[in-house]
Amino acid sequence: MSYKLFIPGPIAVSEKTLRAMAQPMIGHRSNDFVALYQSIQPDLQALFFTQDPVYISTSSAWGVMEGAIRNLTQKKVLCCMNGAFSDKWLDVAQRSGLAAAGLKSEWGQPVDPEALRKELATGQYDTVTLIHNETSCGCMSDLPAIAAVLKQFPDVISIVDTVSSFSAMPIKKDELGIDVIITGSQKALALPPGLSLLTPSKRALARAALCKTRGYYFDLLEFQKNHEAGMTPSTPVIPLIYALKSKLEDIKAEGAEARYARHARLNKTVRDHVLAKGFKLFPKEGHGSVSLNCFANTLNVDLAALNKILKSKHKLVIDGGYGKLKGLTFRISNMGDETDETIAAMLKSLDAALAELGAK
Ligand SMILES: Cc1ncc(COP(=O)(O)O)c(C=O)c1O
Repeated sequence: MSYKLFIPGPIAVSEKTLRAMAQPMIGHRSNDFVALYQSIQPDLQALFFTQDPVYISTSSAWGVMEGAIRNLTQKKVLCCMNGAFSDKWLDVAQRSGLAAAGLKSEWGQPVDPEALRKELATGQYDTVTLIHNETSCGCMSDLPAIAAVLKQFPDVISIVDTVSSFSAMPIKKDELGIDVIITGSQKALALPPGLSLLTPSKRALARAALCKTRGYYFDLLEFQKNHEAGMTPSTPVIPLIYALKSKLEDIKAEGAEARYARHARLNKTVRDHVLAKGFKLFPKEGHGSVSLNCFANTLNVDLAALNKILKSKHKLVIDGGYGKLKGLTFRISNMGDETDETIAAMLKSLDAALAELGAK
């Protein structure tokens, strides 16, 4: 049952990373753990382009996505919506009993900075959520343009999900003035799932201090208190932290700039190849993701049959469309450790499988 994942997360995890996880356990209140935690902080801060602390949460991204809005919303949260995950964030806010509204765009359309400015100007909101790279439809919003709008509203705390763009391109937290950035382990970091990262601004922590219902597991102030001692609030997923350390070493060895360039190059290789077959990109032109491509199934290929061939004969899987886009789009990841060679091999398999189905 061995096949390679080209779905946009979880993605393939290297042997080196897997081996890094297979180390003896240490106590999470031990000096060894503190040394481990503190040793990776500078590299995490460098990757987030921030001086702020970076918390490690033993949860998938949704844990801290929900925790952040619960900690930070006093008045009302505005959720920018343009795909499945950003739509869900509004749902999660409502389920959490928060006053919440959506700024809606069609799936595949980027968040419109001017529409955001107008909505924030109503003065109703004190928190905004945004998904930088909507994995469900491969659409990337213009974060610098949005951040410029957010700077006009200093009382509004911004919470940005970079789950599928983090480490695939530079996202300069402090320069952009984003309050909270969140990411997860199983996307471009190429780690197994189960760990997420959150970095809050001082303003965000001050806001959290006003909240009486922060709970415990995702209480930002608990994270901060423990962070200062080089620890996490509760027993963390230590094997994944070993894996994270190993991955940060890999990123340093490759060089962050080279890593960003590799993601951009491989993304274009896939895009050019598939567009040349007659498929179309699903997201709005100029807003395609850098870590995956979401194609409209304009050739009406039987995507379930395609994946069956890919899996059984070529030992790989792509994604056949997320949620309401199932069958209508397909997504191919280029994030993590992919190389020119692995992408070329995947595209060769894709060609063969399409030919077998009678597509070109
Ligand atoms: C952009 C984005 N945000 C949030 C999530 C949710 O992450 P998780 O399932 O790890 O909680 C995903 C998962 O694919 C995602 O792509």
